[in-house]
Amino acid sequence: MTKLKKIGVLTSGGDAPGMNACIRAVVRTGLHHGLEVIGIRAGYNGLIHDDFISFQSQDVSNIIQRGGTILKTARSKEFMSAEGRKQAFKNIQKHELDGLIVIGGNGTFTGANIFIREFDFPIMGAPGTIDNDLFGTDNTIGYDTALNTVMEAVDKIRDTADSHNRLFFIEVMGRDAGFIALRSGIAGGAEDILIPETVTYIDELVEILEKGFLRNKKSGIIIVAEGDDAGGAFEVAAKVKEKYDHFDTRVTVLGHIQRGGSPSSADRILASALGYAAVNGLVNGRRGEMVGVVNKEITYTPFEKAIKHNKKIRTDLLDMARILSS
Ligand code: F6P
Repeated sequence: MTKLKKIGVLTSGGDAPGMNACIRAVVRTGLHHGLEVIGIRAGYNGLIHDDFISFQSQDVSNIIQRGGTILKTARSKEFMSAEGRKQAFKNIQKHELDGLIVIGGNGTFTGANIFIREFDFPIMGAPGTIDNDLFGTDNTIGYDTALNTVMEAVDKIRDTADSHNRLFFIEVMGRDAGFIALRSGIAGGAEDILIPETVTYIDELVEILEKGFLRNKKSGIIIVAEGDDAGGAFEVAAKVKEKYDHFDTRVTVLGHIQRGGSPSSADRILASALGYAAVNGLVNGRRGEMVGVVNKEITYTPFEKAIKHNKKIRTDLLDMARILSS
């Protein structure tokens, strides 16, 4: 095993609260091992365009509580091309990096996996995405904070929904995954939750609303994951209105507020543990894996297993949520 001297760290894909706490952990764990730690700006674009900065311990002071990412982030189109990746590897050689930590989600690890195959270069990953759609970790960095953001928003919307006797359709993030919708819906006591992992039947939703109305429910909240098969919240609201027009309805799309804000304690602790474990893994010769926490234990999952649709969602909780909000 060759001894590492210099490693890089980058954040890529959609930002997530806790990414900064993870950068801090990577930098300080690397320095603890006597490594030089280089920050790469704007994800894989920084590798391609030689946007490297040297990190000292104090450079990551006072960031554990900050949302976003001090390294900036991007969804790099150039890194998807062989030409772009070749240029990235040239800069890695130029700066004599021996390893890389990438903090991100599906796209980030997909890119890392291809890069490892092409250049046999050691990369470890830490899961940073609000979507929680990675297999090999109970929670991703940013998910808990996003859930709390959504829950607070739902609580506020419920106040006005109740005052006006209105039915609200609230759209939350999750292009391909319903984790945010499911958990925030349970926490916010939503009347129903629509997620991409299950088929949405508008008639079923109408039935739930009708039953509630007959029991004298005057207002309600329906959480719609942006990637739901029936469409976004506006589309779903329109489809429901066509069949059942008892409620004065409104639609709220929460959008990018879900990605911002100071990370929760759970996210700071998770991000710290994962940044620490990712560097230790790299130092111990691991590569091509995402670090995670499953049942409170640190785990390592090959990138190809961690990405895309391998993580099961507890669809049984949808029934529970309906019963509890009835
Ligand atoms: O990957 C996280 C995520 O927030 C998804 O939930 C959402 O669909 C997407 O990013 C939005 O991406 P962008 O900010 O690039 O529009």
